[in-house]
Parts: sequence; structure tokens; C-alpha cells
Amino acid sequence: MWGGRFASGPAAMMEQINASIDFDKRLAPQDIAGSKAHALMLAKAGILTPDDANKICAGLETILAEILAGTFTFSRALEDVHMNVESRLKELIGEPAGRLHTARSRNDQVATDFKLYIRDWLDDTDGSLARLQYVLAVRAEEHAETIMPGFTHLQTAQPVTFGHHLLAYTEMFARDRGRFSDARKRLNECPLGAAALAGTSFPIDRKMTAESLGFARPTANSMDSVADRDFVLETLSSATISAVHLSRLAEEIVLWCTSEFAFIKLTDAFTTGSSIMPQKRNPDAAELVRAKIGRIAGAFQGFVMVMKGLPLAYSKDMQEDKEATFVALETLDLMLAAMTGMIADLTPNVENMRKSAMKGYSTATDLADWLVREAGVPFRDAHHITGRAVAAAEGLSVRLDELPLEALKQVDSRIDQRVFSVLSVDNSVASRVSTGGTAPQNVRKMAAAWIKRLEKEGFGG
Ligand code: ARG
Repeated sequence: MWGGRFASGPAAMMEQINASIDFDKRLAPQDIAGSKAHALMLAKAGILTPDDANKICAGLETILAEILAGTFTFSRALEDVHMNVESRLKELIGEPAGRLHTARSRNDQVATDFKLYIRDWLDDTDGSLARLQYVLAVRAEEHAETIMPGFTHLQTAQPVTFGHHLLAYTEMFARDRGRFSDARKRLNECPLGAAALAGTSFPIDRKMTAESLGFARPTANSMDSVADRDFVLETLSSATISAVHLSRLAEEIVLWCTSEFAFIKLTDAFTTGSSIMPQKRNPDAAELVRAKIGRIAGAFQGFVMVMKGLPLAYSKDMQEDKEATFVALETLDLMLAAMTGMIADLTPNVENMRKSAMKGYSTATDLADWLVREAGVPFRDAHHITGRAVAAAEGLSVRLDELPLEALKQVDSRIDQRVFSVLSVDNSVASRVSTGGTAPQNVRKMAAAWIKRLEKEGFGG
């Protein structure tokens, strides 16, 4: 009675929910590379004639050219990139096209395609991270002696150098590169030839396929090959951590640009004006880098939810690995480009940074350390004495180094004239020569070492 209304409805809806071509078409280059490797392997193993394999490869190259030229017509009715390519191959070369799908399935095919795509992204993004590290190191060398307040709890803690602060991020991005490179090593096994889930009865040479696609080896278990997407999760989780680093640096740029901090200035290239308040220069690029982590962390969490509880082996749920991942990976690239641009663009207000570093009794720890070193006072006691000195300075509304000696002596008679040599911000930073400390000589050395290393890797200049 009511079936007529549904006759075409469900079909249309099915295509809408099922077809992945709108987004997986970007895997076409990887899909074609995988198919060529598979065809050549089948020929070598005597499963295809050399003539058929050649026709297949030539047809696939034509298809790639059509796709790159934008003349290829993708069809939703053909569901995904694999079927779109195969169907066009059939139009181009006829019968041999139907032999390509021997000893494989879309399940091992899509796992291979996506691994190849992510591997390319990992390689490109390693370069983007390295270039950001390089810009940070160059600015750090330039500002090895620029003094700024170092914060804990966003309260002035101790003076540091701006170069030291920048190099902190160079270290973070180095670890991000390490995580991506670990992910690359683990993903670099070829699923192709695992077929649907159980392997194949054809005498294929999976080692050959793996090698021709640049994989280290074939995957060891056919079910694992088609059932897991941990390489996607690992890449997204590493991307999330990297985005956390970018977001924190972006937040600092936003803070530093305020008139309250006034530590840096960005040029017109990375700021925008307000349509109502003419005086404004808003650090939109930094704000957006701060914000865009949402897409990346969201992609990670979303896809964790997809994979959780899925029984082996392939399920269509796994098609959900792509869309958000494409967006997330593109987003990280954009964040890296914007951040690299801003770090190169920013001009520190050296005077303001210095003035700010002198506020907040930032050299109180230096006074305590002096008492330990010169008067043999246990640090715990020195800490207490210094606290009283800070209170005295606060009472007189002066900085610690502006307190008269008598006032200091009243706090503790062991304090003498020599203490003033450690109360300046310059002496404070210069004294922090411990490994990893903020002393300008350390910062110059570390910045130079990073610059040299990154130039050697080919990312400098
Ligand atoms: N479009 C699918 C995906 O992205 C390809 C694999 C489909 N396999 C299948 N047996 N329907 O996961």
C-alpha cells in the first residue's frame, strides 16, 4: 500500500550514505600506484599475461592523466575511488581490466591507498615542522640576550631570554617529528594481497608488491591488514599533540600582542583591523592557530569512537577514517604555515620585555641562592629571608635591587654590598649556565646547534 513511495527513496538514501567517492577521490593517485604494482606482480607471478599487465598499466596512466587534468568524471553510482577507476579502465582497455582485481579486494586496496596517502603527508609535514624549527632557532639566536620574564602560573617567576623561550618550542617540534617518524615506521608495511581478509589461493608475491610501493615489507597477518586503522589513529594522535604545541605558542603570541604585555608586534601580514574600532590590530592568525586544534583533536576522538568495539575484520564503519582525517591533516599543515610565517614576522619590543622582567621581584631566587652560596644559609632559610626582603621592597614600593642596603641588612645582617651584583636581570640570566639553562651563552650554543643540524637536514635558508 505504501511501498510505492519507498521504491526509489531508499536507493537514493543508500547512495548518499554509502558512496565515498566525494572524498576518497583524492586517493586516486595512490589507488592507481597500488593497482600498477599489483598488476606487475600478477604478471611476474604468471597470473596475468605480460600483455594484459601492460594494457592495464597504460590504461591506469591514462586515467591518472585524466584525473590530474580534471577531465575524469567521478560517479557516485560507482561508490568509491576503486570502482570509479576500475570502471574507467574497462571503458579504456576492455576485457583485461576485469583481471586486475584477481587476488585482491577493496579491503586491502583501501588500506594500502590510505597508508600511501598518510605516508606522503608524514614526509611533507616533517619538512614543515623542520622549517618551523629552523625559523624558531634563527629568531632564538637573534634574541639570545633579549631578556623577558619567565612565568609559572602566568605570574612572573624568573627572568629568561626570549631566545630560550623560542627554543623550548624547537624542542617540542623535534619530539613531534619523532612521533610522526615512529608512526611512519609502523605504518610502512604493505596490506595489498591480504585480499578480503583471509589471503588468496593465487601464488602472489607480496614482497614484490610491497617493495615496488616503497613499503619495508608486507603485513604479516591478512586479517590485521584489512581490519586495523591504528596508523590513522597514531597519525591523528601525534597530530593532536603537535597541534597542542602550536596552540600554546599561538596563545602566547596573542598575549604578547596585547597592550598589557606589549612584548611583540605582528605586521599587517598576520593581523586584521576591526570594522568598528579603528585602533585595533587583531592577531587573527594566532587566534585561529589556537582554535584549529579542535578539528584535529576532534578527528582523533571521532575516529577512536568509530574503531572502538569493531569486530574483525573489515566493516564499512572504517570508511569513516577518511573525511575528518583529510581535514585534520590539512589543518595541521595550515597551522604550521601560519605559525612559521608569524615567527618570522614578529618584532619583539626588547625594552618592554626587559622592563617587565624587572617587575614582580623576578630575581628573588637569585637573592636566596646568594645567601646559600655566600653566607652558607640552608636554602629553606634563605627562601624565608628572601620572602621578608620581598615584603620590605613591597612596603617601600621598590624593586628588590632598589632596596637600600640597610633595609636588606635589617632583614638579615649577613647580607652585604656584594648581593647587588646578583639582583639585576642580566646577572640573573647570565648565571643560569646549567645544562638547559637560560644563560645567553647556552642559548647561542643551542640555537647554533639547531641551525646547523637543520641546515644539514636540508631545511635551512
Ligand atoms: N570505500 C571503502 C572504504 O573506504 C572501500 C572498501 C570497501 N570494501 C567493501 N567490502 N565494501 O572503506
